[in-house]
Order: sequence, then C-alpha cells, then structure tokens
Amino acid sequence: MSFSVDLMSDLHAELHSEQLDYAALKKNDIAIVAGDLGPDPATSLAELARIAAAYKTVLFVDGNHEFRKGLPDYAYNFDFDAVEEDLRRGIAKIPNVVYLRDTPFVKDGVAIIGRNGHWDYKMVKGYPRRQAIKDSASILETSFNKAASFSKMARRDYYALRDQIIRFNKDPSIHTIVVVTHTVPRAELLHDGPPVRQTIKGSSQMRHLLQYDANKKVKFWFFGHQHNAKKQEIDGVLYQENPRGHDQQTAKNYKPSAVRLTA
Ligand SMILES: [Fe+2]
Ligand SMILES: [Fe+2]
Repeated sequence: MSFSVDLMSDLHAELHSEQLDYAALKKNDIAIVAGDLGPDPATSLAELARIAAAYKTVLFVDGNHEFRKGLPDYAYNFDFDAVEEDLRRGIAKIPNVVYLRDTPFVKDGVAIIGRNGHWDYKMVKGYPRRQAIKDSASILETSFNKAASFSKMARRDYYALRDQIIRFNKDPSIHTIVVVTHTVPRAELLHDGPPVRQTIKGSSQMRHLLQYDANKKVKFWFFGHQHNAKKQEIDGVLYQENPRGHDQQTAKNYKPSAVRLTA
C-alpha cells in the first residue's frame, strides 16, 4: 500500500506579499510542512490554519523561525519549552493538524515521524565547535551560551527520533518510515556557503539515526531550512527539500511537491 503527500517548507509568510492559494495548488490530501512558516508562533499558526483549511491532514514540524519573537528584529526566544507549548496549544485548536514533535502519523503501514532537528555546530569538518558557536552567536544576535543551547535541542530531537525508529522497526505493521526534520540531515546535502552559515544548517548526529534502522524501513527524509530545492538519494534513502524561501523571484511560482510514499 502506498499513498502520496504534498511536501513544503520555509513558507516565511511575512516576507511575501502574495499569499499562497493552497486549495488551488494542492495535489494530495495530506501535506507535510517542515517548518519556518512565520517569524513567531502566532504568525506560523495562522499560516498553518490556512494550509489546514485546504488539506484533509497537515503534518507539521517546527523550524527555527517558529522560535523567534517576530518582526522587526527577529530575535530568538530561548525559552524553547514555552514556544513549543504555544505551538502545541495553537495546533490543538486546528483539528486536522498533527504536531509530529508529539505524535507520529501512521497510515497504510507508513510511519511519519518528525522533529525540528536544530543544529550542533559540528556539520562543517575542521571548524572547531567552540569557534563555530562564537562566530554564529553574532549572526544569531545572542550570547555564546544561548547560541550553544541549540545543541541541546539538537541532541534531544535526535534521541526522540532514534527511539521512534527503534520502535517502528520492531513493529511488523510498519513497512516504511518517513523522517521529517526542519534542518539538514547530513553534510552531503549542504549547498555551498560560508562555514559559519553551514554550521547552523543541521546536526552532525542526525545521520547516525540510520544505524538504528535495522530493517531498512527509512526510505524518505524530508527537510527544509537551507532554502535550496533538492532531491537526492543516498544509501537507499530519498532526501528531499521543497522550500519557498526568501527569494521573491523563485517564490513566485512556488508549489507543493507531490511525493509518492512507496516501499
Ligand atoms: Fe527558512
Ligand atoms: Fe530554518
């Protein structure tokens, strides 16, 4: 059994004057939305509600932009638990949205699991972690310690996904696992850029999830964050990103990507 989903991410609603007409663009009944919908939880939840009005089911993973405090300065809110609680409460009011952070989605033998993923400052080889945190802190406009706290979130998300992969590997009713993260799951998928930017694109630990996939059930890994449309197969896993991004030109013709989830 298989079914298809619409993939999108990085909608950044506040940056585009033109709203996406999800009802006109949709190709399937289920949407996977991999984070960065707006510059704060309230804007993101409003966009999520617009998506949910067009789809039967929406599977949502938060991105780093959901952890900001909005325009004009885009400052981060480092009370991560409070932000997740805000998102959780907002999502609870939209009955057809699943917050993958809390609840995996299972249909026809396919388990879809997801977490933001964050970053651990170790994606770039030869770039020492402490230096990467120090350099990134100025980009993130925060202190060393606060910048470093993203690593804790990265570890937490990694272990949560690892436990789900182990669990669904043991479950005979599941033949396919789909992983969704906001950040980039492995260094091979990074596109060119300065090391200081690449180091906050993902977590070096994430690739090790596949070591726990004893029965090779992980077939798809959807992500976002780097704003570079991508589709690449590595070791039997299809990695795909379909971001709207910031660029007004490419964002103009943006549409969800349909992906068939076959074993
Ligand atoms: Fe983004
Ligand atoms: Fe992002």
